[in-house]
Amino acid sequence: MNYPLWVVPYLGGSWVIGIISIIHIFISHFAVGGGIFLAFAEQLAYRRQDDRIYDFLKQHSRFFVLLTTVAGATTGVGIWFSVSLVSPDGLASLIQSFTLAWAEEYLFFVAELATAFAYYYTWDKISREKHLQLARLYAIFSVFTLVIINGILTFMLTPGKWITSHWWFDGVFNPTYFPSLAIRLLIMLAIAGMYALVTCTRIKEPKFRVFMVRYCAKWLLPVFLLGPICTIWFLTQIPQTTLSTILVGIQNSGVGNYSIMARALYTSLVLSGTILLFAYFGPYLNPKGFTFRIALLFMVCGLAATGTTEWMREMLRKPYVVYNYIYSNGIHKTDIPEIAQEGFLQRGKWASALTSATPTDQVHNGEIVFRYQCMACHTENGYRSMKKLLGERDEDAISSFLGMIKDTDPKKNNYTNIMPPLAASDAEMKCLAKYLATINAEAAAANKAVTHKPTSGQEISQKISEPVSNN
Ligand code: HEC
Repeated sequence: MNYPLWVVPYLGGSWVIGIISIIHIFISHFAVGGGIFLAFAEQLAYRRQDDRIYDFLKQHSRFFVLLTTVAGATTGVGIWFSVSLVSPDGLASLIQSFTLAWAEEYLFFVAELATAFAYYYTWDKISREKHLQLARLYAIFSVFTLVIINGILTFMLTPGKWITSHWWFDGVFNPTYFPSLAIRLLIMLAIAGMYALVTCTRIKEPKFRVFMVRYCAKWLLPVFLLGPICTIWFLTQIPQTTLSTILVGIQNSGVGNYSIMARALYTSLVLSGTILLFAYFGPYLNPKGFTFRIALLFMVCGLAATGTTEWMREMLRKPYVVYNYIYSNGIHKTDIPEIAQEGFLQRGKWASALTSATPTDQVHNGEIVFRYQCMACHTENGYRSMKKLLGERDEDAISSFLGMIKDTDPKKNNYTNIMPPLAASDAEMKCLAKYLATINAEAAAANKAVTHKPTSGQEISQKISEPVSNN
């Protein structure tokens, strides 16, 4: 509310961030895992003084360095850019809480890039010992970028003691820090192995190829052996209401958000299982028959599993940016009662500048409330379309819906686990209802023409309690 917002029609801002992030997650996990892989594989080459492994690594690192430095850096900046346009208030809070951590992240990132270039351009130009040291240095720097960013990512889901202490240390080393670090490292090693399997299939000499395919397949083992333990560890540390969010979906595969979560969990499990079987029967038992196409398919499965898991982690946190502290729309949980009393629009610097003082401009002011409070998750007529979700409700029905989501008591507001409570004065709520009524005006009018009767209070309450009976 203090900054201008970027309104993305149809797709919604959250998808813009989501798409860039998912690409960045693939590349960054690949960069860290690949860095570790290069260091270990070069160690192997050095120990055996095997020119064939050296040649393989030179080939292997070409695309790797190009992808991780160029695409990794642009998507990384892209996340910042898009988040600062779509959720400036939430991002501002995060930056203010962890300025030092962000600065360190940047430092390690620059160091990582510098060593990546030094590593790539010094093949055959410096001694093998020195080159091995560069490889190790690259691996260490890239692991450190994870060590720091993991603190901030996990903080958003489990801020833990930070909520009361506000000490950065409590925030970074929060309850899910270590399990999440372990899971990410395991996934990174697996992705590195999968990518190396792809490049291995290019090796011509049959015996060496079998040797390398087996070596790379082993990089998938840790995640399958330790992954389940770390996942259970992680799940014990997340807020129990979010855990039940997943479980409810699994039990009754009901409607709405929960079943999507359950489906995502199934998908990620099925994909992981497929990869395990594939890895065992494919490259490990039958390295000779392992072709480029299978390796590629394999890699796609791995990335899909990573993507689904990552998406689930994001969903677990909803409707918060920082769990139990800041909502997705940048509003602090503790500010809501005050906003409900005093109003929302004049609190924010930018929002108040946009607000019209003319009483007849209610629709305009309602639209501003909508942009700041709802557009983090909804669009007018695209992703999570307001037009569709409002259905045939007229202004009165919309008003009573808004009255319900304004309530912060979970017993009265069914949506407290899904949407932030509406933070607005009664007058602003009226403006919002007026604005929303313009979005679905056609459907509401058509409904009225057919039924000729006003929607009864009972119907409204049925409608609002239908989609998420979360018991
Ligand atoms: C944190 C994300 C988030 C925010 C912010 C948010 N919503 Fe929602 N909203 C959801 C989700 C998720 C659903 C469920 C969608 C579904 O079932 O497909 C939903 C559903 C709805 C529905 C349909 C409910 C029904 O029972 O028919 C309406 C209407 C709605 N939201 C209005 C709003 C309004 C108005 C705001 C702003 C004051 C808002 N939402 C803010 C996430 C959000």
